[in-house]
Amino acid sequence: MQSSLILGIESSCDETSAAVVRAGTDVLSNVVASQLIHANYGGVVPELASREHLRAIVPVVREALHRANVTYKDLDAIAVTEGPGLAGALLVGITFAKAAALGAGKPLIGINHLEGHIHAVLMDSAHSGTWALNPGPLLALVVSGGHTHLYLATRTPQNTWTYRNIGKTLDDAAGEAFDKAAKLLGLPYPGGPWMDALALHGDPKAVPFAFAQIKEKRSGKTAPKLLRENLTHEDDTRFDLSFSGIKTAVRRYAELHHMRDRIAAHDAALRAQGIATAKPTGDALTAALAHFDTETLNLIASFQASVTGYLTRTVMQAAEHFGAQGILVSGGVAANRELRQRLTVDAQEAGLPIAFPTIALSTDNAAMIAAAAWPKFLAKDFAPDTLEPTPQLRLG
Ligand code: KG4
Ligand code: ZN
Repeated sequence: MQSSLILGIESSCDETSAAVVRAGTDVLSNVVASQLIHANYGGVVPELASREHLRAIVPVVREALHRANVTYKDLDAIAVTEGPGLAGALLVGITFAKAAALGAGKPLIGINHLEGHIHAVLMDSAHSGTWALNPGPLLALVVSGGHTHLYLATRTPQNTWTYRNIGKTLDDAAGEAFDKAAKLLGLPYPGGPWMDALALHGDPKAVPFAFAQIKEKRSGKTAPKLLRENLTHEDDTRFDLSFSGIKTAVRRYAELHHMRDRIAAHDAALRAQGIATAKPTGDALTAALAHFDTETLNLIASFQASVTGYLTRTVMQAAEHFGAQGILVSGGVAANRELRQRLTVDAQEAGLPIAFPTIALSTDNAAMIAAAAWPKFLAKDFAPDTLEPTPQLRLG
């Protein structure tokens, strides 16, 4: 008998997660074990990630089943992230999922992590009905520490989804730019949430950062809008981005303004107070704020304003160009308050509905993997027993 329950497993980077989701929309449990160990190294160390996944996977899955009050017998299928991600990290989730599927006699479904991020939003908006009247293509921005991708996501008559990549970063991901700039300024890892919290205390206009225009073949550009809507498949216009320049600009600014000693002092002070692995809230944030001078806070606010402005402009141009019927934003950077605000204002002005995942669903989690698996389950799109990690897996 069909229960509409899927167990999702995610282990592509530094979060071990398992979730039980009903019919692609109702999250019965979503357990996420974050690997704090990487904060000591200022970035994800692949070998450590695999080891931590190995430690966490059994208790995390057990907890997800327990919280959902189900057993393997109750499930319809087991879904797992097959890529993109770290090979060794993906292998832990896939090996576990394969063994569990075999043992329980359930089908296995392989999910692209990026499709998962998109479903994190579709899952939420299914409840709010945001897209009910919008069957046309949606513009999806997936923006995290590993990815900055733009897709046109379209629902097929069979209720599955197709994706077309229409832009991506040519170098660093936006979250990576946040993390690298934060590191340059002596902030803890991951730096994105810290930049977000500290930017509120600086002047976003203090430092005029600029993003270079990326020259691309934009063959569909001259077609009138109505015509373009029918030409979507042939229109190979790209909206690619680049974030490596701004990191250099931050470094140069800090050098020119002799900030090196101050930055080293922030770093040492945060470490001494045990804030180096803390989240930017409450006492940790208050203590950190006490160390930062106006010039550094202004630099942080200007960096964030320029990155979020650039992302917002590119998203809006792409949405207009392809006649998107709505916008959805997902991935760790979707948690950024300024990005949410700017995109919301611009989308409203353009008359387009826009949706973000809840904060819990914007970073890596397994509920989004189980949600993305639901249409595939209905279409009987199952993975072979030989499923393997695909670290460079692409979407669209
Ligand atoms: O989706 P995610 O958990 O993992 C990846 O697939 O990368 O995203 C993590 C990234 C990190 O780069 C982190 O700094 C960034 O998302 N991030 C943020 C914020 N929260 C997380 N960046 C800017 N502002 C935030 N509030
Ligand atoms: Zn992710």
